[in-house]
Amino acid sequence: MYPDERRILMTPGPVVFSIDVLRVMASTVYEHTSPDFAVLHGSVIRGFRVVVGARSNSPVFVIPGSGTLAMEVALLNTVDPRSRVLVVSHGFFGDRWGEIARANGYDVTVLSSELGDVVPLDSIVEELSRGGYGAMLVSHVETSTGVRADLVKLASIARRFDVLLVADGVSSVAAEPLSCSDWGVDVVVTASQKALETPPGLGLIALCTERAVQAFNENSGRVRGYYARLSSWAKVMEAYERGEVAYYATPATHLIAALARSLEKIQAEGLERRFKRHRALARALRAGLRAMGLEVVARSEEIAANTVTAVYLPEGVSPAEVRKAMMEGNIVVAMPIHPALRGKSIRIGHMGSVNHNDVIATIALLERVLKRMGANIKLGAGLQATQETLYEELL
Ligand SMILES: Cc1ncc(COP(=O)(O)O)c(C=O)c1O
Repeated sequence: MYPDERRILMTPGPVVFSIDVLRVMASTVYEHTSPDFAVLHGSVIRGFRVVVGARSNSPVFVIPGSGTLAMEVALLNTVDPRSRVLVVSHGFFGDRWGEIARANGYDVTVLSSELGDVVPLDSIVEELSRGGYGAMLVSHVETSTGVRADLVKLASIARRFDVLLVADGVSSVAAEPLSCSDWGVDVVVTASQKALETPPGLGLIALCTERAVQAFNENSGRVRGYYARLSSWAKVMEAYERGEVAYYATPATHLIAALARSLEKIQAEGLERRFKRHRALARALRAGLRAMGLEVVARSEEIAANTVTAVYLPEGVSPAEVRKAMMEGNIVVAMPIHPALRGKSIRIGHMGSVNHNDVIATIALLERVLKRMGANIKLGAGLQATQETLYEELL
């Protein structure tokens, strides 16, 4: 069944993509060895560097696959398989770093945060002080809890202990401020379907620092497998950037064209404005949720993500029923994914092209849905707080 075009997606990916992006995808003729396509691919490479804050000579890779593939491929190509890796986990996707590293034979230690919180920096320092680590893996925004890690501080710790910092930016890139080269975040990975506002199917990797490039060069002979060997993809990326063509494996032509258009739109909005918009919408949404009497999972505004919010539902209210009722009202929210939040919370995405009208509509519908389910909700209380925050922050 096809969705109603007026449906509002408030999910943490895939997100709504624009008619302009759709139009670009509607072409019948993208051919990966044509000069036109090389130009489009080159613009994706340059645009991606801009949104992650990588230097103009930082190697970047765009390969067909999802965010999980990008995480795995980035790890294999930059971290010696004999290394110990420290996973700093704030939830489901942080844990995924551990699973990926274990599946590939790394010696893994996981430091897990309390639910809705981040791992205290002193416990990271204490663990790294034991020595022997080659890399630290973290998710910038943890989509299961709506918590954001402080990459500036983690990068400075990584540097102090000479470990590579590999950050999963799947739920942050193009929505949260990020200057990977200046901050010293060595490697950043992401995927097309979140704040990059493109359909799912592209994994993106940036080697943002000299250290990352050196690790990549040292490691290239050790990568087992074929598709995952980024040194082979590097030649293709370099050719496309020069406007020339090369082949390793067929690129996802239509997705590349779509991402090129989306990156143009993102840069036309301006990154600073875009980050500010995401911040304002996130704060307005959370103000509304709190004023409704709900508890946000992220323990403080300081660590709360600008792209996704996990929120506890009132006692006895089922997430599946809330999602169903919201869907009937044409707004899609997401189910919990963190094991400890199942049965008691929902997640609301607010990234990409989400705007103030979407946030107002979501709070308004959620108030009615919860009241109808018997929760103690005063209609308009959440909405008022959302309005006030939008008034202060946006208009
Ligand atoms: C923070 C984070 N990392 C990794 C992933 C995995 O990405 P994918 O589902 O594209 O493989 C997701 C997916 O939602 C995510 O939110």
